[in-house]
Amino acid sequence: MDTKTLFSERRSATFFNKDKQIEDQLLKDIINLALEAPSAFNLQPWRIIVVKSEESKRKLFNLSNQQDKVLEAPATLIIIGNKEGYADSNPVWTEMLQSVGGDEKMVNGAKEAAAFLYGSSDERKLKFAESNAGLLSMAIMITAKEYGVDSHPMSGIDFDGIHKEFSLKEEESAVMTIGLGYYDTTKELYPRRPRRLFDEIATIV
Ligand SMILES: Cc1cc2nc3c(=O)[nH]c(=O)nc-3n(C[C@H](O)[C@H](O)[C@H](O)COP(=O)(O)O)c2cc1C
Repeated sequence: MDTKTLFSERRSATFFNKDKQIEDQLLKDIINLALEAPSAFNLQPWRIIVVKSEESKRKLFNLSNQQDKVLEAPATLIIIGNKEGYADSNPVWTEMLQSVGGDEKMVNGAKEAAAFLYGSSDERKLKFAESNAGLLSMAIMITAKEYGVDSHPMSGIDFDGIHKEFSLKEEESAVMTIGLGYYDTTKELYPRRPRRLFDEIATIV
């Protein structure tokens, strides 16, 4: 599908077909392609919990204001940003060291810069986690569409409850959830609502 079509035809699939599962391999293909999304210093400060079992779905449903799509979607992703993804323990630094031919000075400089830019206040930490994981989220929805899979982003959710019930680490933040599956064609989506365009939302300075 070309990019124009992907963007104009992606919808939040309010109704999923409960009887149409999504194969694990397809889920992996979608997510692996979406992981080409950019991230600061390529740090990829994110992880994903795939909610598939009936028990986990029920738990997430109750933490999502009982939005039916959580029960209907064959899989719902919890997109998690890591507020400390710039830390030494991130394996990306090792990969970076190899990529730059073992230039430790260069990598240590990048580590220091990242720690300052993203770790020097709670606000910066949260922005780091959420901006990067937000880009990944959009990439997942567009990639899913390319593979013929519908999606639904959700932030009408109990973030603290999800943090606790899905055992997120202290430094992690649930950014949003994304239902994935196939739109239930027996139901009708409301028409796509108009977007405010460049002249309304942009300023050239
Ligand atoms: C971050 C985010 C959170 C959202 N949370 C919810 C939600 O909790 N429940 C819901 O029904 N829709 C939710 N939506 C869907 C929006 O209402 C929807 O994207 C918007 O109305 C535009 O419709 P479209 O996605 O079909 O183009 C969310 C969308 C985004 C991007």
